[in-house]
Amino acid sequence: MRIILIGPPGAGKGTQCQRLIDLLKVPHLSTGEMLRTEARAGTPAGLEAARAMARGQLVPDPIIVAMVSRRLAEPDCRNGCLLDGFPRTLPQAETLDDMVERRAMSVDGVIELAVPRDELVRRMLARKRADDDPVVFAERIASFERQTAPLLEYYGRQGKLASIDGLGTADEIFERVKAAVERFRRRR
Ligand code: AP5
Ligand code: MG
Repeated sequence: MRIILIGPPGAGKGTQCQRLIDLLKVPHLSTGEMLRTEARAGTPAGLEAARAMARGQLVPDPIIVAMVSRRLAEPDCRNGCLLDGFPRTLPQAETLDDMVERRAMSVDGVIELAVPRDELVRRMLARKRADDDPVVFAERIASFERQTAPLLEYYGRQGKLASIDGLGTADEIFERVKAAVERFRRRR
């Protein structure tokens, strides 16, 4: 199974992926986590990414596409993966479609976690990641609305989108996520 999770910052993408990896036994690819690892390693791409992340802006597509393309070529991704935070722009989505097609793979479904802004802010204030600062967070939400929200229509047109209410306990939301995965499975 190859599943994409889309949602604004703090929607619970990472939290739900932690539960999904046990269910689906596929690797969890979080581009945010991959970028934080690159930034800590101090690679040129990592340092450029860190500058964008500190401002709440998206990292340039070429850096992201190179990173994901390398990761998808690894053997553990052959039977599927969870894509958390990728794609985030239309060019990234189109590139992903090309990448999976070239490898004779496919995206089985896209899960949108919908959470109202006041709840996102509450979650962000309760956490202490470097980019969980109110000003940076507002920019992360704006980037989502401007650049990522259009993907919902893109995947809706492909008939792949499952929109889920992301309010409730993590376990309640996971029940909704599992129901969406079951629908993806039946459609294969
Ligand atoms: P990324 O790391 O992906 O961050 P994000 O999208 O802003 O989302 P978060 O990780 O903050 O939230 P989440 O949805 O994973 O929620 P979580 O489960 O942690 O990206 C960071 C940056 O990297 C971007 O700003 C950008 O610069 C760059 N980047 C990454 N990918 C990119 C790409 N493809 N292209 C360009 N740039 C890219 O939950 C959040 C909090 O809420 C946690 O504390 C959690 O415990 C809590 N929580 C979770 N579920 C619930 C619940 N149901 N109820 C209450 N609290 C909950
Ligand atoms: Mg995350």
